[in-house]
Amino acid sequence: MLARLDELTGPVEVGKFYLVPTVRAKWMPYGVRDWPIIGPQHNDKHCLDFEHTHYHLDARFMPSWHGHHCEWYWSHVAVSPMQAKRGLNAGGFPPVVWKRRECKRLENPQTDALFKRAAESKTFQCLHADYVGRQAKHDGRGWVCPHRSVPLADHAPVDGVIRCPLHFMRIDASTGKVLASEVPSQ
Ligand code: FES
Repeated sequence: MLARLDELTGPVEVGKFYLVPTVRAKWMPYGVRDWPIIGPQHNDKHCLDFEHTHYHLDARFMPSWHGHHCEWYWSHVAVSPMQAKRGLNAGGFPPVVWKRRECKRLENPQTDALFKRAAESKTFQCLHADYVGRQAKHDGRGWVCPHRSVPLADHAPVDGVIRCPLHFMRIDASTGKVLASEVPSQ
């Protein structure tokens, strides 16, 4: 029996198969597929000025069409969510369907660069400033990102920090406190 991602009490493992939430819709420029998604559908009007309803893609289960090191592709996976707006998934999204998928990687290969860019971005600084110091809830499996209530039990901490892949918040893996963005030294 395959484990559903929302049943895991620890990080996913590369090479293992899981039941993963997918949504069949169009993601530009790659067309209609059953895309692996992470978190609820939402908009990000606050601070990020992103008004369209969207789903974020789960990089751990995405195909690597342009290879592991393609910065453009992996940045696109992270910051170009699947949107519903006029001319693109205009009728909204169909229900989530759980599908068998192989875990290809533990996180987006561009994660370090994405967190660095977010820490330097005024819009992400605005969002993160609202959350820093807040206590994440624990759902019995692991910490839940307080921003969009995304369960992060299946994400491996890096140096004691869980990195939420949706909008790049950092959560202390032992206390559940939201940490400040790490602005890289020049
Ligand atoms: S859901 Fe937005 S940072 Fe976690």
